[in-house]
Amino acid sequence: MKREIIKTLDGSTTIHLQEWDECYHSKHGAIQEAKHVFIKNGLSLFDSDPVSILEIGFGTGLNAFITFLESSQKQQPIDYVGVEAYPVDAKEVLAMNYVDELEAAVYKEVFEKMHECEWNQKVAITNDFSLTKRKQFFDEIDDFEIFDLIYFDAFGYRVQPELWSTEIFRKMYKSLRPNGVLVTYAARGVVKRSMIEVGFTVEKLAGPPGKREMFRAFKKV
Ligand SMILES: C[S@@+](CC[C@H](N)C(=O)[O-])C[C@H]1O[C@@H](n2cnc3c(N)ncnc32)[C@H](O)[C@@H]1O
Repeated sequence: MKREIIKTLDGSTTIHLQEWDECYHSKHGAIQEAKHVFIKNGLSLFDSDPVSILEIGFGTGLNAFITFLESSQKQQPIDYVGVEAYPVDAKEVLAMNYVDELEAAVYKEVFEKMHECEWNQKVAITNDFSLTKRKQFFDEIDDFEIFDLIYFDAFGYRVQPELWSTEIFRKMYKSLRPNGVLVTYAARGVVKRSMIEVGFTVEKLAGPPGKREMFRAFKKV
């Protein structure tokens, strides 16, 4: 599929898939979306407690890097697992401007390490942040109650409806610890119904710039 690097409205880059007319992040602002959906409405629920995170779609590593930046300020221990079947190539990673846009030049090496480290191995990126990049399809995920928080960041329902199915959300539910949380940028009724069917309690929150709403789901037991 033909890929191009574009700038989103907040100045941060993303990858655009021409055939699908689908981006890795919101065209309204990749960084703004990541901060709003995954940090403000996800990570921040845990204060400075240790958190075990599953990311659905590691992609460019933007969510992982922003999570690192947020958690390092608080010395919050993070165990981060990013699942990805189609790793972004090194040339594309170099074209992402996240280190500059996030004014994180002192952590440039952290971003690079996140991409250069081995797949399928737990790597200590820093003392407090470990990363496991799992080269895996989402439908192969089979974890049981090991995550506190899921960043559900698959491509949209319009282009990959099979990834927003009850089958996938059942896996997500199973992989969360009791009282675990899933956040996603999505806000479609069909997605909410799938989440509820597998046991999630779902709430609608204000979306990031350019999007009215988003979902947060809890495994309440
Ligand atoms: C919206 S992008 C994720 C963006 C990413 N969170 C970031 O910060 O750059 C969705 C990701 O899911 C991956 N993907 C698509 N279908 C998949 C599948 N069936 N299994 C695993 N990964 C898949 C894509 O390669 C892409 O990296």
